[in-house]
Amino acid sequence: MLNRLREIEEAVSFTFDGKRMRAQRGDMLASALLAAGVDHVRQSVVSGAPRAPYCLMGVCFECLVTIDGVQNRQACLVEVEEGMTVLSQHGAMDPLARFHEDEGRQP
Ligand code: FES
Repeated sequence: MLNRLREIEEAVSFTFDGKRMRAQRGDMLASALLAAGVDHVRQSVVSGAPRAPYCLMGVCFECLVTIDGVQNRQACLVEVEEGMTVLSQHGAMDPLARFHEDEGRQP
């Protein structure tokens, strides 16, 4: 778990798997999740093992999450925004998710 060096001065709120969280405006999402005590954001497609942000610079792809309905976003490359809805990912992306959304059906 990471600890913030300074208190949050200008807060933005977002949700992760339905849980409301706060971050400092300007935080990258992966850092905000780790600072909030989140210990994994997805599961390995191969083994199902829990995975968490690792490199924090866009290289390892361990930080993949769904942001506002868009799968496979790298949380370390996205700045937290007010009202953002973030979901952890389980398994591989659904290649038909966009089709299901367009058809108004749940995948
Ligand atoms: S933490 Fe490595 S790509 Fe995001």
